[in-house]
Amino acid sequence: MLVSATEMLNKAKAGHYAVGQFNINNLEWTKAILLTAQELNSPVILGVSEGAGKYMGGYKTVVGMVKGLIEEQKITVPVALHLDHGSYDHCYKCLEAGFSSIMFDGSHYPIDENVAKTTELVKAAHDKGVSIEAEVGAIGGEEDGVVGMGECADPKECKAIADLGVDFLAAGIGNIHGKYPENWAGLSFETLDAIQQLTGELPLVLHGGTGIPADMIKKAISLGVAKINVNTECQLSFTAATRKYFEEGKDQVGKGYDPRKVLAPGFEAIKATVKEKMELFGSVGKA
Ligand code: 13P
Repeated sequence: MLVSATEMLNKAKAGHYAVGQFNINNLEWTKAILLTAQELNSPVILGVSEGAGKYMGGYKTVVGMVKGLIEEQKITVPVALHLDHGSYDHCYKCLEAGFSSIMFDGSHYPIDENVAKTTELVKAAHDKGVSIEAEVGAIGGEEDGVVGMGECADPKECKAIADLGVDFLAAGIGNIHGKYPENWAGLSFETLDAIQQLTGELPLVLHGGTGIPADMIKKAISLGVAKINVNTECQLSFTAATRKYFEEGKDQVGKGYDPRKVLAPGFEAIKATVKEKMELFGSVGKA
């Protein structure tokens, strides 16, 4: 069932677990994630970055694929189709295309401009029954080989953006997209605690879910995180399984060159990664 992410995340926050957002890249990714969610009776959020949306042939193509899979694969658990790190223009494109959730990443704007644009988009999203995530404090990551420490959001700015009516809020707490460097300082639970004190019931979002140790994930959930984004980890497991297939020469045995056979180990690897995360996040059986 394609739904906005508001209800599933409010339930997660109240129930002290988190719903995973798994980013999709193609049909195999999407099917693997949806089938795993159904098998585990877990709610799920499919994340689509602007780049992945373009890669898959455009937002309407993505909506068609997801709706088709939900119907034909008999997916009855709540599924949200969410624009990840959307720019102002792409938020409108996804509202138009039929996404059920969007993220407006205004974290690089001065706070006043972030407030103005977020206010406008909250109304546009809610008019269509679509949920909206906003972000305060940029999430770090690798750029030109330099890995930056994730920035920590200002809790007062978080409160200001929360008050605009967003449905859930991403706040930088030292988290980084992609692999974490050896000398990473870890998540700032002090910042997370301060943010939750001011934002109360609002579900908080942890980006950069790949590679965060299980104990930190559990602590973050205990401090109000109700949505955790995972992207790189599925890419790593898909690619490792695909590499193994070729290294073992399986593409050269019988009809091993058939793309459906080539992509099968990666598909299973994504399913295993998603299962592991859903178990860790506590969303199994919560659909
Ligand atoms: P990772 O690629 O580090 O898992 O981060 C995913 C993410 O936060 C998408 O918004």
